Amino acid sequence: MSITLPTPTAIDEAAAFLRSGALVAFPTETVYGLGADAANDRAVAAIFAAKGRPAFNPLIVHGPDLASFDAAAIIDDRARRLAAHFWPGPLTMVLPRREGSPVSLLCSAGLDSVAIRVPSHPVALSLLQTAKILVAAPSANPSGRISPTTARHVAEGLSGTLAMILDGGPCRVGVESTVVDLTAETPTLLRPGGITLEALRDMLGPVAGAGAHLSGGPRSPGMLSSHYAPKLPVRLNVATAEPNEAWLAFGPAEGATLNLSPGKDLAEAAANLFSMLRSLDRPDYQAIAVMPIPEDGLGLAINDRLRRAAAPRGTV
Ligand code: TXA
Ligand code: MG
Repeated sequence: MSITLPTPTAIDEAAAFLRSGALVAFPTETVYGLGADAANDRAVAAIFAAKGRPAFNPLIVHGPDLASFDAAAIIDDRARRLAAHFWPGPLTMVLPRREGSPVSLLCSAGLDSVAIRVPSHPVALSLLQTAKILVAAPSANPSGRISPTTARHVAEGLSGTLAMILDGGPCRVGVESTVVDLTAETPTLLRPGGITLEALRDMLGPVAGAGAHLSGGPRSPGMLSSHYAPKLPVRLNVATAEPNEAWLAFGPAEGATLNLSPGKDLAEAAANLFSMLRSLDRPDYQAIAVMPIPEDGLGLAINDRLRRAAAPRGTV
């Protein structure tokens, strides 16, 4: 599978592929997405097939701006405020589906809601503006495996099923978008991510469900407990690793195999998380031992992904 630099010509070509129903992987500021025309049932079905993803897991629909979702979802005042503040950026809003919504029912996986997001990566934005269609895009990795933060990660996991991989360099944020459900009066956090819970509460007031995602409630069908899994076992909150373990540190740690952020910067740690888990996932080690990460700001999203990486396997 060829990896293509995002020249204007390549973006035109990728947009044409999307419009014709083919799959294109593209960079976002969070992770690489596996994109398809959100209104095309067969194209959306091809995403599920390429990822080996359970069909009950709904997909995020990406557009170039808030107005692009007018026909797809019912956008209330809260959604408008969040969009004005956080878009383009790593926030996904779950809203009621509008009657006659062009978005494939497969995207919603049987729910009467639709998840929407405007990514801030310039390549993603220019692809969406050029394609002039809504694009369904989960992370571009096989289901249950670590999300890709470089074009090469995508090629390693999904080669063969894609028309094209656009290379926009490593992802700046490194963990997926925050997913907030706005279908009820009280907003619910379905997935911690690139926008912190604190920042959401500043805009919305009370937000329910911080922590509820860990047990996987009925409103977060995509949150399978074993997810983001390396092949090696993962041990969390480990002060010092055993000699046969890969030691993934946070903060000062002499002898660490890799360090998410020697200076304890959570944004740096989030950006490094998936690529470091990948490079430590080698048979030379018996396990990956991870130092404690604080539970505030981006630490909520980092710990969520780490707990999934450490969860017992085969719980799908
Ligand atoms: O950062 C991201 O969000 C990346 C990039 C590519 O945009 N995409 C991503 O998509 O992480 P995916 O499919 O791997 O995760 C989508 C999440 C899942 O947890 C899914 O359950 C939730 O969004 N979701 C999507 N639609 C939903 C809906 N209608 N109701 C509830 N949850 C929904
Ligand atoms: Mg994913």
